[in-house]
Amino acid sequence: MSRLERMRQQMLAENIDAYVVIRPENGRYMSGFTGGEATLFITSERACLLTDFRYIEQARVQAPDFEIVKTGLDHFEVLSELGQKAQRVGFEGDFITFLGYERLKDALPQAELLSLPDLVSHLRSVKDKSEIELIRKAVRIADDAFAEVLKTVDIGQTEEEIGLNLEYAMRRAGASGGSFDFIVASGIRSSMPHGTASSKQIKSGEFLTMDFGAIYQGYCSDITRTVFLGEPEEKHREVYEIVLAAQLAGIKAVAPGRTGKDVDAVARKIITDAGYGDYFGHGLGHSVGLAIHEGPNLNMREERVLEPGMVITVEPGIYIPDWGGVRIEDIVLVTETGCEVLTQAPKDFIIFE
Ligand code: GLY
Ligand code: MN
Ligand code: MN
Repeated sequence: MSRLERMRQQMLAENIDAYVVIRPENGRYMSGFTGGEATLFITSERACLLTDFRYIEQARVQAPDFEIVKTGLDHFEVLSELGQKAQRVGFEGDFITFLGYERLKDALPQAELLSLPDLVSHLRSVKDKSEIELIRKAVRIADDAFAEVLKTVDIGQTEEEIGLNLEYAMRRAGASGGSFDFIVASGIRSSMPHGTASSKQIKSGEFLTMDFGAIYQGYCSDITRTVFLGEPEEKHREVYEIVLAAQLAGIKAVAPGRTGKDVDAVARKIITDAGYGDYFGHGLGHSVGLAIHEGPNLNMREERVLEPGMVITVEPGIYIPDWGGVRIEDIVLVTETGCEVLTQAPKDFIIFE
C-alpha cells in the first residue's frame, strides 16, 4: 500500500476529511519533495503540494503523485479555496507556530481543527526496504569515517578539529552533511552527555567521546564511541565495561513486542546494579530516519511497542561530573526475531598509548 493510501486509512480512522503537513520531514516522506518549504494538503480525493515560485519545477519532478499548487510565500493563502468543504482538518500541533495556527484558522473558518501530530510520524516509525538501505549507507559512512579519523587522532588536537575531520570524511564519502552538531568531549567535558566539540585540546589520561552521524539522501545515522588517551586507571576500565555490558544487554533485549520501557529497563538495571544509576540520566535510545530523533524511544516512559522495520539507537552512558563519562551508541534494525546491529565500528576499549 502506498504512503498516501496508508495516510488516508489513518485519516478515515480519525474521522478527518483533510490533513495539513508542514513539518519538512513529513512532507518529504509523503511526497518525495526534498525542498523543505512546502505544505501538503491531503484529502480523500486530492493530494496537493503547496509551494512558491522557487520550488515549482523541483516539486513537479520529485512529487509526481501530488498536484503542485503555486502560492506566494504564505502557503495557507490557497487553503480557503482548496479546503472550503473540509469539516474536520488535522494538523501537526507539535510543529506549527502560534501564528501559523491563527493563519490556518483564518483560512478554514468553517472547519474544526484537530491537533494530530502522530499521523505521519506513526507511518515513518516503520521503515520500508528503500529507507533501510539508505540508513545502512548512512551508518556505513559514519563507521568508515570513525575508522579513518581514529588513525589521525593525536594528543594536542582540539575537539573541534576531530569533529571537522569526521565531517570531512563523511562528506567525502557522499554524506550531504552531519546529522546534528557533533559531540566531541574529552576529559572532564566527557561527563556532559551533549558537550559539543570545543577548542579544548585532547590530552593524555582522558576519555574522548565522539558522537556524530551522517545524512545520506535525507536519512540519518548516529554513533557514539568513547576511547581513552594514555594509561587508564582501574575506574576508567570499570566504567567502560559497565556501559558496554549495559549496551550489549540493551541490544539483546530489542525485539518486536517489547516496549521501549522494557528495553530501557534491561540496560538501566546493569548500570544501577553496578552503583552508577544516578549517573545515567537520559533514555536508552531513540528512533532515527529522516530526523535524527524520532519515535518510538527507548526510555523509562515509552509504552510504544517495537515492530520489525523500526530503526533505533541503543546508547547507555555513565557521566560523572568532574571526572568524565562514557557513552556507546549503535543503531539497530528491529527484525522479526530480535534485531540486527547496523553499526560495525569496534566497541572494545580502544586505548591510544
Ligand atoms: N546526538 C545525540 C544522540 O545521540 O541522540
Ligand atoms: Mn548520538
Ligand atoms: Mn542518539
